Amino acid sequence: MLCTHWPKIVYDIEGNLLVKTSQEISEKIIEEVIEQNKINSSQVFLSQTKIIEDFIKKIDSGIYKVIFADKENTEKVIDILTNTSFAELMIRELENLKINQPDIYNHILVVAALSIKICLDLTNEEFDPYRIAKIGLVHDIGKSRLPAEILEKDKPLTHEEFKIIQTHPWIDHLLVSHYLNTTKSFVAKAALCHHEKLDGSGYPLGIEQINNYVQTIIPCDIFDALISRRPYRSEPFTVRAALDLLLEESKKGKINNKYVKCLISYSRKDKPHYNDVNPSQINRDGKPKINYYGIREE
Ligand SMILES: [Fe+2]
Ligand SMILES: [Fe+2]
Repeated sequence: MLCTHWPKIVYDIEGNLLVKTSQEISEKIIEEVIEQNKINSSQVFLSQTKIIEDFIKKIDSGIYKVIFADKENTEKVIDILTNTSFAELMIRELENLKINQPDIYNHILVVAALSIKICLDLTNEEFDPYRIAKIGLVHDIGKSRLPAEILEKDKPLTHEEFKIIQTHPWIDHLLVSHYLNTTKSFVAKAALCHHEKLDGSGYPLGIEQINNYVQTIIPCDIFDALISRRPYRSEPFTVRAALDLLLEESKKGKINNKYVKCLISYSRKDKPHYNDVNPSQINRDGKPKINYYGIREE
């Protein structure tokens, strides 16, 4: 499987050239990159960074005030984040995002935290919350290598531009594998799959077999993307419309309904158990005219 529509060359955070324009990213290219660039990055705990502070600021606004209203529960999420360690170069990637693409940085923090929250709540499932924290934190770092004129475009994207956006999971996979110096990283592979769908209609691989970690990340990722401002979309989705869309997607067998129900529960003040969430069948808010990925509808 190859990454097509490659926009430009890729450097790591220290300025080392990883991939040239003429190359398309593939597992084989990633192997070569690791072979040629033996990286030895030290481990840093998030407690040694400003990430926790930034996350606390972020959840003091909008719907996240409701979702993270339970102080005791949120303390547990913060505790997981605080004790998550990561390759120092990955942390530098996040710091770079914070400066240059703060929207993506905030999105990453929220997706990591929501996924940890689900992971802690579903005690009957085998989840390692530290592992899901890492997947959330890296899942969109590849976007930092995409052309700014596409990321910041204030009009709907063309299909050609969207194809370029769709290369970012491969860049995630490349960068994370490089920083962790292995082709076998679960986190790097999970990042590659964060836009897949259970019916095989996702990208970049179009696979149906998606592990539980990625299945958890997917609705959290879509939810935050929908309710956040984007340059190409004049109005974000309301929380209700975003949850309706996620429910529709789960009914079509694209995403896991259980994790969608968790998000619905969190967004309600009374926080019912996810099994008791009985969503109304009527879509009250509808959806904005532009589809949620911002592609021009023709
Ligand atoms: Fe993404
Ligand atoms: Fe994302």
